[in-house]
Order: sequence, then C-alpha cells, then structure tokens
Amino acid sequence: MSILSDKEKLKNRPIGFMDSGVGGLSVLREAVRVLPAEDFIYFGDSANAPYGTKTVKEIRDLTFKAVENLMDYDIKALVVACNTATSAAITELRTRYKDMPVIGIEPAVKPAVVCSRGGRIIVMATPMTLRQRKFRELIKTYDNEADIVPLACEGLMEYVEKGITDKEGLMAYLDRALGPYVTDDTESIVLGCTHYPFIIKEIKEYLGDRNIVLIDGSKGTSSQLKRRLEEKDLLRDADHEGKVTILNSSEDPGMIELSKRLLEQKDPEVEND
Ligand code: DGL
Repeated sequence: MSILSDKEKLKNRPIGFMDSGVGGLSVLREAVRVLPAEDFIYFGDSANAPYGTKTVKEIRDLTFKAVENLMDYDIKALVVACNTATSAAITELRTRYKDMPVIGIEPAVKPAVVCSRGGRIIVMATPMTLRQRKFRELIKTYDNEADIVPLACEGLMEYVEKGITDKEGLMAYLDRALGPYVTDDTESIVLGCTHYPFIIKEIKEYLGDRNIVLIDGSKGTSSQLKRRLEEKDLLRDADHEGKVTILNSSEDPGMIELSKRLLEQKDPEVEND
C-alpha cells in the first residue's frame, strides 16, 4: 500500500466545472482533450437556466450555489464555463476562493480581431454578458480596429437545453435574429455563450456558402486551465485515466443523458482561440 503525500492527494482531486446548463460541456470536452489524466466534475444548473436574462445579483447567487455544490467534491480548481456567470461573479469568486485557481470564460473577441481583415465581427451572447462592463471594456479596446456588432440572443440557449430537437424553430430563430446583421463584409461570428458551439452545424447551414469563420473560447479557456495547474504544480500523473462525472440541478434525468451526448458531440471545424 502506498501512502500519498498531501501534495499528491491535492493533485488527485477533480477539477470542477459549472454552467447555467449543458453549455459548459463545450468547454469541458476541450479540457478533457487537453488534460486526459484529470478527473472532472461538471455541474449544470439547468433547473435555473437561463442565467442570461436574470439580474446580476440573481446570477451571482446561483453561481455561488452551484460552486458550493462542487466544493463538496473537494475540487482543486474551478472553471466557470459560462460567459454570463463569469461576467457577473468571477471577481467575487476569486475573492472567496483565493487559494484555488478560478478560470472564467469571456467572448473570444481578441482572436477574432487578430484574424480580422477589417470586416464585421458579430458577437453572439446573452443579454447579460453584453450589458456588463467587462464586455463593454473588452470591445472598447478594439474600437478602432474592427466593426464589432454585439448581438443579444435571448432564447437561443433554450434550443440546446432542449436537445436541439426543434431544428425548424432554430433555423427560424437564426433567420430572425442573426440574419439582419449578416452583411457581405461579415468575416467572423464569435460564439460568446458556451451553449452555442453545440449548434455550429445549424449556424453554418444557415450561413450557407458565405465565408464566415465561427470562433469560440473553449480552447483558450482549456489552455489557461492547464497553464494555471502547471504553475501551481497541480497536474496529476499522466498514467491516470481521467473520468468525468456529470451533475445537473434539473429533476429530469434526461438532462444527464443529453449532457453525455453533447460531451461526445464532435465539431472539428470550429476555430477557437
Ligand atoms: N452558457 C451560458 C453562457 O456562456 C449562458 C446561457 C444562459 O444561461 O443564459 O453565457
């Protein structure tokens, strides 16, 4: 029998992920790819979704509750895999959990600007994310460099929460909400909500043969997680086969099934930072 040191015990703890629902799984699937030896525990707050139309205080309270659930599993790091929860609560979470790496996600505007040739960049996100100072400051940085158009997509994440079964409704939504903003010089669309990478196929189908790049932040967030674990010497031994545990606040057992299906869904064509 081997006796583990305190450091080894700490390394062996899981990494916690949270989102308002199943969206954060688009970040988790990338993290699993980058960190295959890690154990992950994912909490989707589908019972309280959507977050994006709630007040900052409501979102903050729900986010803290979700994180407290994860703390029961002795997590060694936290990923807030939700742009909305990040913009409403990341500062407070970092203050509360000072000793633990806390990684957030924000719309991947920077990589879109870096690849820009001067055309339009549409940022699809929840109304809350776009209203927050964090986002307004982010786009102000690139004010003179690009034509950035924020697009609040109230009601879009619900198509993913329902398992993307209403394709007709989803295509009509895209036509109504996205259509008017897509111009001939549109060059990229930033998917600023972690639910949206699960409907990339439908967005691409809607855009047809236009040459528009879709960008999401899952890769950047996963690399940041890896970097933070390396810095703190918290990576597990590479010979461990990592596992994923999924929790969901909804009483519907179908949400766990849907989560497992989404985690396996492959979208190799997306560009991400
Ligand atoms: N997945 C979430 C995000 O990245 C939010 C969706 C919602 O709850 O409104 O912003």
